[in-house]
Amino acid sequence: MKKLWGGRFQKTPEQWVDEFGASIHFDQELVEEDITGSLAHVKMLGNCGIISQEEAEQITNGLTILLDKAKKNELEFSVNYEDIHLNIEKMLIDEIGPVGGKLHTGRSRNDQVATDMHLYLRKHVANVVELIDGLQQSLLNKAENHVETILPGYTHLQRAQPISFAHHLMAYFWMLDRDKQRFQESLKRINISPLGSAALAGTTFPIDREFTAKELQFDGIYENSLDGVSDRDFIIEFLSNSSLLMMHLSRFCEEIILWCSQEFQFIELDDTYATGSSIMPQKKNPDMAELIRGKTGRVYGNLMSLLTILKGLPLAYNKDLQEDKEGMFDTVKTIEGSLQIFIGMVDTLNVNEEKMEKATKEDFSNATELADYLSMKGMPFREAHEVVGTLVYQCIQQGIYLKDLSFDQYKEASSLFEEDIYEIINPYEAVKKRMSAGGTGFEMVRKAIEKAKTTLL
Ligand code: ARG
Repeated sequence: MKKLWGGRFQKTPEQWVDEFGASIHFDQELVEEDITGSLAHVKMLGNCGIISQEEAEQITNGLTILLDKAKKNELEFSVNYEDIHLNIEKMLIDEIGPVGGKLHTGRSRNDQVATDMHLYLRKHVANVVELIDGLQQSLLNKAENHVETILPGYTHLQRAQPISFAHHLMAYFWMLDRDKQRFQESLKRINISPLGSAALAGTTFPIDREFTAKELQFDGIYENSLDGVSDRDFIIEFLSNSSLLMMHLSRFCEEIILWCSQEFQFIELDDTYATGSSIMPQKKNPDMAELIRGKTGRVYGNLMSLLTILKGLPLAYNKDLQEDKEGMFDTVKTIEGSLQIFIGMVDTLNVNEEKMEKATKEDFSNATELADYLSMKGMPFREAHEVVGTLVYQCIQQGIYLKDLSFDQYKEASSLFEEDIYEIINPYEAVKKRMSAGGTGFEMVRKAIEKAKTTLL
């Protein structure tokens, strides 16, 4: 099969070599971006008098037909034409005749493919930003209903101090806020046009790069043609932002998995976000949360892969760069899917308020209250820590909690203790009083929720 670039060749590669080199089986994902880029390019060629207006019109009509078919999934791609760019060019020539061959004037596949990917990521990053915002909204809704739901807070996965469940959820809200900002900010670098860089050096044709950039709603053009065709920073940045996002989701998944275990029973996932076991009839597994936690690995892998592909590449285009696409597509699919699932999972999960609260009463996470109490009455904190530590030890010996110690036992430990300590060690009171900025006190959490609302799109 004669190649579109076959002029200087005497032999063609064997079929399997062709297949190894081809990218059409994955870059067909870029079909709409590819045709959209070509439409802008041909309009510019006509306007600048590089081809006649009539030729430009013929090509535009041909491309419009192809775009229409692409949207209906009616195009049939062939590995014989290697990639999306050559497939579309071949289809165009088949559609309108040899004039279709004028489309590639003053352009190379190198700036073409880069343009396609800028367009593709621009679209998907905007969607990811919306999805993150949607998940933040879901968290906010849950948080609003659970400001006064208390549960143990943990450090080292050991019960530490009681907190508001809303406060816990809002921690994820703010992580997602940073993610959202990163994706939004990255659009500045994604939305730049490489089109017109041509193969690497620009072109002798009197093209107008600003014109095509404007047509495609880019904010500007690459200043340097070599950089324009060899830059993949914007994809690496996307993969890096996605890795951070997935790391946050994965931490949350880990907690969800723990919380719905028999040991915690803090939440119950809706049946639609859980699965059963093929052998153990009693099981209800948090598969979706586990899967998102697991998929984090492939997103990190995609980041590592592209960083490694780029690290030794001389300027400008090298075929290695064809390897930039699958990881990008895979990451887009993974993060969009994970966010969608997460929104549903959070919206439908049931919070077991009694279990959470009960847990705060069956531990020593109120010990800090006692130490703070003594130190507020003048005892150096270090000493107060020791006194309360000894009381905790006594409780453990007797198999009871701090609330079960008699007042005499308290008095014996320190004469500073008064009857009000029983109120002080009530976990609900302990949470309520943590009114420092950013703390878990109920009023503070309510304020935080109001502030959070102002960051939503
Ligand atoms: N399929 C190629 C890629 O994805 C398109 C650019 C090819 N350019 C070239 N000079 N071979 O990178």
